[in-house]
Amino acid sequence: MEQNRPVRKAVIPVAGNGTRFLPATKAMPKEMLTIVDRPVVQYAVDEAMQAGIEHIIFVTSRNKTAIEDYFDSAPELIATLTRSGKTTQVTQLEKMLPVAGTVSYTRQQVPLGLGHAVWCARELVGNEPFALLLPDMVSYGRQGCMAGLMELYEEVGGNVIAVEECAPEETSSYGIVAMGTSVQHGFEVTGMVEKPDPSVAPSNYYINGRYILQPEIFELLAGQERGAGNEIQLTDSMQRLAKTQSFHAHPYQGRTFDCGSKRGFIEANVAFSMLRADMRDQLSVSLPEILASHETRVQAA
Ligand code: G1P
Repeated sequence: MEQNRPVRKAVIPVAGNGTRFLPATKAMPKEMLTIVDRPVVQYAVDEAMQAGIEHIIFVTSRNKTAIEDYFDSAPELIATLTRSGKTTQVTQLEKMLPVAGTVSYTRQQVPLGLGHAVWCARELVGNEPFALLLPDMVSYGRQGCMAGLMELYEEVGGNVIAVEECAPEETSSYGIVAMGTSVQHGFEVTGMVEKPDPSVAPSNYYINGRYILQPEIFELLAGQERGAGNEIQLTDSMQRLAKTQSFHAHPYQGRTFDCGSKRGFIEANVAFSMLRADMRDQLSVSLPEILASHETRVQAA
C-alpha cells in the first residue's frame, strides 16, 4: 500500500483583529490573551508539536508583532532572571523557545476570511500536505486533538478534519459535516457546509478547527468565491476538493473551548486553572464562593 505523505508543517492563522475582545485587543493581538499564564496561541503550537509537526507557519497581519517577539529569544530578560537566581523561569523560557528556522511568518494583507488566510500560506507550505490549527479553539483531553487527527490520517490519508458535536441550534456558528460510513478512527465525510441554519444542517457535527489538508486546496482557494458572511470560506473549497479527493472526520473525545467568544475564553481559564496542581485546591474553595456570592449578583443587577 502506498504510504501517506508525511505532515511536517502546520499553518496557524493569527490575522483576525479580535473585535469581540475590545478594548483589550486595541493594542495587543487576541492570540496573546492568556489562559492562566500562557497565551492562547501557545496552546495550538504545543498541540502541533506534540503531534510531530516540525515547522509552524503563522499567517499574521498588522499589529501582530507581539506574536513574533513571543516566539523569539529574550536575551535581556534571561540575563535579568539569571542574575536574580530565577532558574525555574529561565529553564521554562528556554524550553519553549522554538529551534531557529522552524517558525515562518507571512501576512494576510486584507481581511477576506479564513480561506484567504490559508491561501496566503501557499508558498511557505509548498506541494505537501499540511496541518491547520485555528488557535481560538483550545482543547484538552487524554490525547491532543491534532495527534488524534494524525492517527486518522495514517489510517485513511487524503484530507482529514476533527469534529465535535454541538447543540442543534448552534450549527449556524460553525462548519458542519454530513456523515458517511465509519472507519476505525472516524467516519467518511459526504458533505460540508459553512454555518448552515439548523433547519438545513446535515448533522450536528461541527468542524472544531483542526485539519490536515492536501496542497490541491490552494488552487481551489485561489478561485474561491465569497460565501457565508461575504468571506472566502475554507469550508467551501474543501467541499469542492471533496469531489476529487477523500475527506474523513475524527470525532475528538476531549473538550474544546471557543476562545474567540468571551464565554469560551472565561470557561477555558477556569478549566485550565483547575488542571493546575498549584491552583486547584484554592480555586475549588473560592470559585463556588464567588458564584454563590450575594454581592456579585447585586453588582450585576
Ligand atoms: C471557522 C471555520 C468553521 C469552523 C470554525 C471553528 O469559522 O470557517 O468551519 O467550524 O472556524 O472555530 P470562524 O470561527 O472563523 O467563523
